[in-house]
Amino acid sequence: MAEFLGGWRRTKRCAEATEQDLGRELTLMGWVQRARDMGGIVFVWLRDRSGIIQVVFDANKLDQATYRIGETLRGEYVLAVRGELALRAPEAVNENLPTGRVELMVKEAKILNKAQTPPIYIEDGKNENEAVRLKYRYLDLRRPSMQQMLQLRARTVDTIRRHMASEGFIEVETPILTKSTPEGARDFLVPSRLHPGDFYALPQSPQIYKQLLMVGGVDRYFQIARCFRDEDSRADRQPEFSQLDLEMSFVEPGDVQQVVEGAFADVFREIKGIEILLPLKRMTWHDAMETYGSDKPDTRFGLKIKTVTSWAKNCGFSVFESAVLEGRIVCGLTAPGGARFSRKDMDALAEFARGYHVKGLAWMARQDDGSLRSSFAKFLTEDKLAELNELLDIKPGDAAFFIADKRLTALTALGQLRNRLGEQLGLIDHSRYDLLWITEFPLLEWKEEDSRYTAAHHPFTMPMEEDHQWLQTDPGRVRAKAYDLVFNGIEMGSGSIRIHARDLQEKMFSLLGFTQEEAWDRFGFLLEAFEYGTPPHGGFAFGIDRLIMKLIDAESLRDVLAFPKAQNASCLMMETPGPVSEEQLKMLHIAVDTGV
Ligand code: AMO
Ligand code: AMP
Repeated sequence: MAEFLGGWRRTKRCAEATEQDLGRELTLMGWVQRARDMGGIVFVWLRDRSGIIQVVFDANKLDQATYRIGETLRGEYVLAVRGELALRAPEAVNENLPTGRVELMVKEAKILNKAQTPPIYIEDGKNENEAVRLKYRYLDLRRPSMQQMLQLRARTVDTIRRHMASEGFIEVETPILTKSTPEGARDFLVPSRLHPGDFYALPQSPQIYKQLLMVGGVDRYFQIARCFRDEDSRADRQPEFSQLDLEMSFVEPGDVQQVVEGAFADVFREIKGIEILLPLKRMTWHDAMETYGSDKPDTRFGLKIKTVTSWAKNCGFSVFESAVLEGRIVCGLTAPGGARFSRKDMDALAEFARGYHVKGLAWMARQDDGSLRSSFAKFLTEDKLAELNELLDIKPGDAAFFIADKRLTALTALGQLRNRLGEQLGLIDHSRYDLLWITEFPLLEWKEEDSRYTAAHHPFTMPMEEDHQWLQTDPGRVRAKAYDLVFNGIEMGSGSIRIHARDLQEKMFSLLGFTQEEAWDRFGFLLEAFEYGTPPHGGFAFGIDRLIMKLIDAESLRDVLAFPKAQNASCLMMETPGPVSEEQLKMLHIAVDTGV
């Protein structure tokens, strides 16, 4: 059998050649980044996943045939070279290249494969069209930053696995062909050939399996789990993604949090060389909403929200006064340096706030000379204005913004405005890593459109013991033993202590509007399992892709997956999803109606 490599064996990766290898003979293999023919001497940059090294074809030292190889090289040719590593002349040192002090003087060379001119530059910093990059992902992956990303990702997952093993967790794989798991997104369905008209669902998470593993006595489970959610893609959402998924028996929230924090601390130490102070900060959902207007607050900057409803009661401004009369709140925040915003800026901010379902944004700007510009201050008495300045600590040069609306609506809109102002005023310290727990989430959320409650997290979450009393009379008031991990304003993961008793789980399903029959129909296996000695248990899952995105400061999840889906959930490289043959459809008992 002919050997492609002709008996050659690679001795090192390109960028792993160091000054210790000087004078040694090395065999390197990789791709031609570029070849510069200077007439009599050809300089080639040879690249592999480790980086780039310069290899030199010198006509004076080579037989003609070998030198010819150097002359014919083009970008992305796959090349093998054998030669001696030499120090570059001082004037030829390239400080921008880690291997810039050395070069390989070629003695022998072999072209292992040729390449056409690639449709994208295989170089970082060339702003290539993303659609073309995604279509030729295998070429895009050759870029150094992509190689580094994949290596960092692998090291991160490796660090997590080691942490989990050291904490006594065992990795268990759970099925991909399964039943709908309610995480709030749409399911991807797979038709069954053997059961006409029936479908599997791809898991939105291994939630139910991991709980059943606790019933099964596994005690501490984890998995790097692939999850599938048919939701609209965004920069931080992909239709398929990976979670570190874990579940533990005989625990309270603090036990789960400790394991998760430990994993994060290990990752930051290993990957970033940063020591994270443990235990992490904890903030209740109530405080997060009141202070930051968000359940995933970016705590890298201040701009804290204050509720000024009692001040607003008889402030003179009718919009606020009538809001208070109708049981709404008035909240505000002070933006240091915001007085420099023009009227146009203020209008843009008001427009932005209205995008979050509020009717308006009241603002005031205290100029450095003490004068005031405002959309509403003219309605206030001197005293009321002074009181407000005091309440919100509005100094000359600052602006303040106010919203009157239903409590969560007002706080949420102001929270979004806060994030925008933080960015706009340059208040965010981008060198900071703020990790914190948000705890005591509400158990249920009222869905106005359907006039019913939905689970704020998922239906298996345990209500807080002290709130069980409200389950029948005032379910909206019940807090859950649920916790999210937030990182610089992004939700990294969620978890909770689970319900482990059949009657409570049934009550939960009924609060969510299931009849007893529907609940048993969908989750009978779980309700039944609760009858056979289920240990108290709880767990957590965080998005590995989101973590990597934050670790390398990427803008989109598309930059941290080897083969991501484009914005419209398609793969431009393989052109999926795509049609299938009539024959396949028939076998699956499916008739396609594309007339919608
Ligand atoms: P949850 O639905 O909050 O919880 O998901 C946990 C974490 O998974 C990540 N994530 C995503 N990442 C990329 N693309 C997506 N479309 C996407 N959706 C979610 C996020 C999120 O915080 N079973 C529960 C966990 C539990 O209770 O143990 C669950 O899946 O980082
Ligand atoms: P108007 O009296 O409607 O001209 O409003 C005066 C100011 O109050 C404008 O800046 C409006 O944007 C603002 N405003 C109106 N409704 C609200 C509201 N619900 N919350 C805060 N400001 C509001």
